[in-house]
Amino acid sequence: MPDKQPQRYQFFDQHPEIADFREDIIRGLSAPEPYILPKYFYDETGSRLFEDICNTQEYYPTRTEVSIIRNNIDDIVNTLGKDCLLIEPGSGDSYKVRLLLDALRPVAYLPIDISRRYLQDEAQKLAAEFTWLNVHAVCADFTGNLELPYHVEAVNKVAFFPGSTIGNFLPQQAVTVLREIRMMVGDDGGLLIGVDLQKESAILNAAYNDREGFTEQFNKNLLLRINRELGADFDLEQFEHLAFFNKEKHRIEMHLVSRQDQHISIGDQVFKFEKGQRIHTEYSHKYTVEHFQQLAREAGFNSVKTWLDEERLFSVHYLQVAGPGA
Ligand code: AVJ
Repeated sequence: MPDKQPQRYQFFDQHPEIADFREDIIRGLSAPEPYILPKYFYDETGSRLFEDICNTQEYYPTRTEVSIIRNNIDDIVNTLGKDCLLIEPGSGDSYKVRLLLDALRPVAYLPIDISRRYLQDEAQKLAAEFTWLNVHAVCADFTGNLELPYHVEAVNKVAFFPGSTIGNFLPQQAVTVLREIRMMVGDDGGLLIGVDLQKESAILNAAYNDREGFTEQFNKNLLLRINRELGADFDLEQFEHLAFFNKEKHRIEMHLVSRQDQHISIGDQVFKFEKGQRIHTEYSHKYTVEHFQQLAREAGFNSVKTWLDEERLFSVHYLQVAGPGA
């Protein structure tokens, strides 16, 4: 069957190496301070639970970021400029980019995701919904040395990195991620990024301890996933959800705390947890506008403009590459 618009949707496969779930879990649980990488939250159940979290009263980041973008859309679009190539590392369901597309009218949208089928589905849905939009989906690991699938000159490349995903990384790792994005967008490129802000501990603690218990389920879903996919025997009742704001390190820390001395087996491997011992599952760093701008500078970006909500809960920054060699 002839394709009606052969070049509007394109798919580029960079064949990313898929991390080995079993290997990562066993390595993490064997460490002196056991951990599970936060990227493993997002299986189907976890992604659904994250949506539930976003709809709670307590979890302000998503709705605040959305309202900042909506309320400032004209200014954002003017600041990014015309005819940009819009690149989204870790695009997922491309939900937030929908807020930009009609106003921004990019030359093309390049969603980048490691999950091949999901990326193809979501990118094709987007292309069907925005009938004028060029969608060039790239299956790749954006935390590797990512190269764009084709050589684009004379367009302004802008990356979009919403949701305070950058907060999951330690500050020095965040600089590395920003540098990778800087390389990706090139010398005249830009970055529109959402960053959660420091605020009263009570607000932060509540956001990660919602009364309906979605964050707790989200955290414990890691254990369910390990049980299901690796045949482990975690008893969810024997682990407690712990999330708190660490004031010194300016971050939410999430852990699963063992309620008793216990042994867990995964295949032929046995892991011993003492009562009170923690499995670390996530950091979510909170920045001041100034501290984030400093990180961005370390990565070779200058701050062009920052948008906040009235309560200064969340920030959206437009950064521009500081120039070659910066
Ligand atoms: C998607 C990483 C930005 O850190 O707030 C929400 C994930 N964890 N509740 C965050 C999360 C617990 C979220 N990020």
